[in-house]
Amino acid sequence: MSLLAFHDVHALYGQARILNGVTFEVGAGERVALVGRNGVGKTTVVNTLCGGTRVAQGRIELRGRPTKDLRGYSAAQNGIAIVLQGRGILPNLTVEENLLLGGATARRGPWTLAKIQELFPILSERRSNPGWALSGGQQQMLAIGRALMANPDLLILDEPSEGLAPVIVDDLAALLVQLGTDGMGILLIEQNISLIHRVAERFYVLSKGSVAESGSLHNVSRDELQGHIAI
Ligand SMILES: Nc1ncnc2c1ncn2[C@@H]1O[C@H](COP(=O)(O)OP(=O)(O)O)[C@@H](O)[C@H]1O
Ligand SMILES: [Mg+2]
Repeated sequence: MSLLAFHDVHALYGQARILNGVTFEVGAGERVALVGRNGVGKTTVVNTLCGGTRVAQGRIELRGRPTKDLRGYSAAQNGIAIVLQGRGILPNLTVEENLLLGGATARRGPWTLAKIQELFPILSERRSNPGWALSGGQQQMLAIGRALMANPDLLILDEPSEGLAPVIVDDLAALLVQLGTDGMGILLIEQNISLIHRVAERFYVLSKGSVAESGSLHNVSRDELQGHIAI
């Protein structure tokens, strides 16, 4: 089953057309990478899914149903959780309050506050600290923990490796592969070749507002992938 699909989506901020016919799809339990250089429109794909742009043409399907009038909560209501670029931690709420916000959709599933704290013990130790007091790596754990609290069928991560030390990126790769193995769909928006290679099965390259290249990652070397991203 398709969880999320863009079909020839054209999207604008004001008069600025950023997406120029974007087509891609993520099926249940698939691990897919959306890659591309800075400024090609990757985050605009996420913003468009959340209703943050004007869609002039094309359609977006959630669970195979065409969805008009997207809002900030449309994705959440359809079992999609998003780890925003820059993490989107609420700095003046505590770690635990940030996590509880993620559970606001009250979807049932394996992830609870206790399970998240077991996965990331530091979030338990620091449960009463404000979000701003966390390190970058801890904020990324909190952002992922908050997303998992929604018990999503599809987890979207927008450049999660940004600003993380390599050893923490290794942990992130292992976690994403495990989540995928457990049946969660993953849409990994990234420029980190090593992370993409370890996590994703398929890729789409975004360039100049549309998908320039796509395919399986099994037979693509790191150099080839780097070449695609440089388009
Ligand atoms: N809110 C906005 N209003 C107008 N233009 C924007 C806005 N956000 C991003 N842009 C522009 O849209 C283009 C794509 O940005 P973005 O989607 O953030 O790229 P990426 O995530 O691939 O780095 C860039 O040229 C950027 O300057
Ligand atoms: Mg971005």
